[in-house]
Amino acid sequence: HPGTDPTRQILAWYDRHHRDLPWRVTPAMAARGIRADPYRVWLSEVMLQQTTVQAVKRYFDLFTSTWPTVADLAEAETEEVMKAWAGLGYYARARNLKKCAETVALSHDGRFPDTEAGLKALPGIGDYTAAAIAAIAFDRQAAVLDGNVERVISRFHAIDAPLPGAKPQMRALVAAMTPADRPGDFAQAMMDLGATICTPKRPACALCPLKETCRALAADEPERFPVKVAK
Ligand code: ADE
Repeated sequence: HPGTDPTRQILAWYDRHHRDLPWRVTPAMAARGIRADPYRVWLSEVMLQQTTVQAVKRYFDLFTSTWPTVADLAEAETEEVMKAWAGLGYYARARNLKKCAETVALSHDGRFPDTEAGLKALPGIGDYTAAAIAAIAFDRQAAVLDGNVERVISRFHAIDAPLPGAKPQMRALVAAMTPADRPGDFAQAMMDLGATICTPKRPACALCPLKETCRALAADEPERFPVKVAK
């Protein structure tokens, strides 16, 4: 039983309700000793940057069946990679993808760096992607903050400061909640919670593992958060 610690409540919810996604190592797989493949985590996170989970699935399957390892992608013809990317948009991402694969294959012996700082030094990898790969692929206690997580954390704490200025405060609160033992599962649990329960409109608070301690729900105004600066 998860008790009243919100971190444990989120993880217990994730164990039951996580989405099955092709790049994921589920808690059941992890229990059988299966580890996340950093190449697959990186590829999925880059694809997910401006594209929905649903749309990414078939591109992810196409890429990983055509180029099963980072070395395969590094050796691919740029033309072929661009063709496979067609439809995902933001073509600078595809060019950076190829550059990053070449850097990992040639300068890192085919292995992704296992720290946020090392990851951030690679082409196309920014704060968000570095934290996501560090947590999900390497079980580093990195604070992962994307749009879904911003919504969950801003509601949970009823953060009145508007985005984007409130990001450092949000990141610190996520860091404080991130567990040392399951940081990757925690990050993905927050994303799934934001995507399926803590939605922008009409969140399903009755089904939320945090409903007992969520401050936005206590004030009966979950949709007011995250507050944004008027455009
Ligand atoms: N969005 C970005 N990364 C994700 C992940 N690992 N799982 C679910 N949604 C995501």
